[in-house]
Amino acid sequence: MSVQIAPSILSADFAHLADEVGRIGTADWVHVDVMDNHFVPNLTLGLPVVEALLRSSALPLDCHLMIADPDRWAPPYAEAGAGSVTFHVEAAADPVRLARDLRGLGARAGMALKPATPVDPYAELLGEIDMLLVMTVEPGFGGQAFLDDVIPKIRRARELIGGREQAVWLQVDGGVSESTIERCAEAGADVFVAGSAVFAGVDPGAAVEALRGRATEASATAWWAHTH
Ligand code: DX5
Ligand code: ZN
Repeated sequence: MSVQIAPSILSADFAHLADEVGRIGTADWVHVDVMDNHFVPNLTLGLPVVEALLRSSALPLDCHLMIADPDRWAPPYAEAGAGSVTFHVEAAADPVRLARDLRGLGARAGMALKPATPVDPYAELLGEIDMLLVMTVEPGFGGQAFLDDVIPKIRRARELIGGREQAVWLQVDGGVSESTIERCAEAGADVFVAGSAVFAGVDPGAAVEALRGRATEASATAWWAHTH
């Protein structure tokens, strides 16, 4: 699988969301950060806005649910038509059942880990999901500094998943920019979320392609691309 870029609309102009999504036409996904002010200390948007985006956007939606009780509240996003639905393992009561529910509803099932959550205890869950999200900032806000300490966990997650062309994608989210994306790609990530790095500048479309170029080059020479 090649590199995929998922711009986060958290840094876009919420009053003109459809226009903002129209500016990232070459992206692979639209990353939608759902925050409930319980699991994280911030409140963003929920299902009605996601439904509106699904009607207006040609790109598939990658919904990152930073919410309590995803066992109950995540499946409606899959039902609505989100292409990918990611829940936090720290919040899920039964991650296996939830992943199966999401897949049964036709979505890709993603599982997210906060920076302090280790990956090894969840190795057996990898067969149940389509994407592992390793957070590279504390979830809750855009524009935070990339946490370099998480790089070894990305590397470990890649070891557990295996090399190229794996069914499970490895996503990074938080502080991903032109100056940090190569480190993530070298460690094994293949799906890159970027909010401020895409929407803070004057040309979000060009930013997507610049990120893609750097990540593609870095992952082409990465150790994991040649193993397994
Ligand atoms: C943080 C969100 C991220 C955020 C990334 O909780 O999950 O998706 O939008 O924003 P940047 O790229 O600015 O760190
Ligand atoms: Zn996110």
